[in-house]
Amino acid sequence: MIAITGANGQLGRATIDYLLDKISPSQLVAVVRNPSSVQGLWNNQVQVRQAAYEEPGKLEAAFNGVHTLLQISTTSTGDAGVRQELNVVEAAKRAGVQHICYTSSLQADATADFTCSRQAAATEAAIRASGMQYTFLRNGLYMELILQLAGEVFEGGDICYPAKYARVSFVSRNDIAEALSKLVTGGSDKNRIYEITGSRAWSFYDVCEMLRQEKRLCCRYISISEEEYRAVLQSLPIDADLAELLCSMASGISAGEFSHTGDDLEKILGRPPMQLRSFIKGLQYEFHPAIG
Ligand SMILES: NC(=O)c1ccc[n+]([C@@H]2O[C@H](COP(=O)([O-])OP(=O)(O)OC[C@H]3O[C@@H](n4cnc5c(N)ncnc54)[C@H](OP(=O)(O)O)[C@@H]3O)[C@@H](O)[C@H]2O)c1
Repeated sequence: MIAITGANGQLGRATIDYLLDKISPSQLVAVVRNPSSVQGLWNNQVQVRQAAYEEPGKLEAAFNGVHTLLQISTTSTGDAGVRQELNVVEAAKRAGVQHICYTSSLQADATADFTCSRQAAATEAAIRASGMQYTFLRNGLYMELILQLAGEVFEGGDICYPAKYARVSFVSRNDIAEALSKLVTGGSDKNRIYEITGSRAWSFYDVCEMLRQEKRLCCRYISISEEEYRAVLQSLPIDADLAELLCSMASGISAGEFSHTGDDLEKILGRPPMQLRSFIKGLQYEFHPAIG
């Protein structure tokens, strides 16, 4: 049996869609904190178990009979985020899970600027120490985030972001979902770490150029200071934790923490990953409030 946490999220749902092409729904358990969020999905054939990352007892019950757990990282940060992820690992161990496949962060590092990278490093360490077999998918930045980072370009605005010339090896969430489905059903290659990236890394100047060429947008990339970015975030109706996370992400991007490229994803997929230019070409105009 394979269980997947965060099953109702964007990555979780896409992964389950790929998994259902490979295995019977009876072999899958979708773990969610709010079962009504998946009502009617997957022809109601996938077993749904309720547990939040803050609920160790419910997590253990949800993992009963599970051989392989696909642990999708939490959206919480700080001490709460670290605790939630450790709750999942500890519950999996108690429930007798044999193999954890964890969605980590690109080149996860306890000393990184990006908060989620530090958090992922702590979770990876706990999984290794647990003795369970592991597969870590250290995911780079989703291409889909460009819509949020650069949303105002569709209203005639510019990309104002504090990344200087730093490059990002953007990767498509959908490709990650397909890769996850292949890895958890593949049955081999345990205790492996994959750095999941696009095949090239691009600066925000490059992103702007692609938006001009492919979408005929007259946008510019203006590399603002981290202080200016923080002030923009503080003026938005978002909570302080999210603002901190976004500042740490920008600082990580500037420091080159998202620039690594490799061919791990291409090898897993058996085809080249989605290219940033193709993604931008396919963008449909939609209003996405910019966060930067
Ligand atoms: N690489 C990147 O660029 C990138 C970007 C964004 C996020 N991420 C990370 O990758 C993960 C998957 O991405 P995504 O696109 O699927 O994000 P998403 O659509 O926001 O989904 C997040 C999932 O995590 C669940 N979750 C969050 N806190 C939880 C808790 N305390 N207990 C139980 N479930 C909880 C959510 O459940 P609810 O629906 O109930 O909230 C949801 O199912 C995210 O959770 C985040 O850690 C990576």
